[in-house]
Amino acid sequence: MALAGIDGRPFVDLSGLVDDGALDALHVEITYALAKLPTRYTGGSHRSLGISPAALHDDRPDYGEVIAGLDEARFQMFASLGDPAHPVDTREGHVFGEDGDVPLTAAQMRWLELAHGVYFPWKVYLELTPSTGRWADKARPVPYTRDAMLHLPRTLALIERLPFAVRGTVKLLGLMPGDDGTVHRDGDPADQTEPDAFVMLVPGRPKRLFLYDDATGARVEAPSRVYWFNDHDWHGVAADPWFRYSIRVDGVFDPAFAREIR
Ligand SMILES: [Fe+2]
Repeated sequence: MALAGIDGRPFVDLSGLVDDGALDALHVEITYALAKLPTRYTGGSHRSLGISPAALHDDRPDYGEVIAGLDEARFQMFASLGDPAHPVDTREGHVFGEDGDVPLTAAQMRWLELAHGVYFPWKVYLELTPSTGRWADKARPVPYTRDAMLHLPRTLALIERLPFAVRGTVKLLGLMPGDDGTVHRDGDPADQTEPDAFVMLVPGRPKRLFLYDDATGARVEAPSRVYWFNDHDWHGVAADPWFRYSIRVDGVFDPAFAREIR
């Protein structure tokens, strides 16, 4: 399917909102905070979630498939690494991980990676707002986490200046050197009436996010360090030999700004 885009454009370049100097300054604060804060992995199950294009499927293990294939003894090893406050020792009636009812613990992710070779594309993942676990809640007002307020004050100040009427969830997604972000989409275009509103900020080294047209195989790279795109289009991140990350800020755009950019 060809790209849905936003008003016929693959990306909306929002680099006028934040200058390079401000992004460079954030990079200093953010990388210092990331060195101190506990971060998690994310991704790793796009194929089993059915949100990646068949033409790009490879043989890297996906944790949804791995968990489904564990024998009982191995499943109990996996379960023993779960959250002791919410023990889950059966697969029956449960979905583990992203979009499921049982979030994976850091230990479970590490075990899936080390014992079963699961590929987690985003190995440095930090939520600057508490997660409700429901993707649909991302445009609702939500406070920042205590860690974000303590360690990322300049970053939050810049986010607060973005043109949102409602500022929703804020997430930092980082890739380690050599890793690629598996191509996926965040929703089915058939379910979409309007593109979801968000701003992507890329404070550090270049991060080559691209859109993928599965009709032609064409890729279109993000135009700048601050942009918006239709996340119901297939998108991924090309491999590069350095750590890079983006911050995704969801919400509802200020109406005047929304009119101006459309
Ligand atoms: Fe995505």
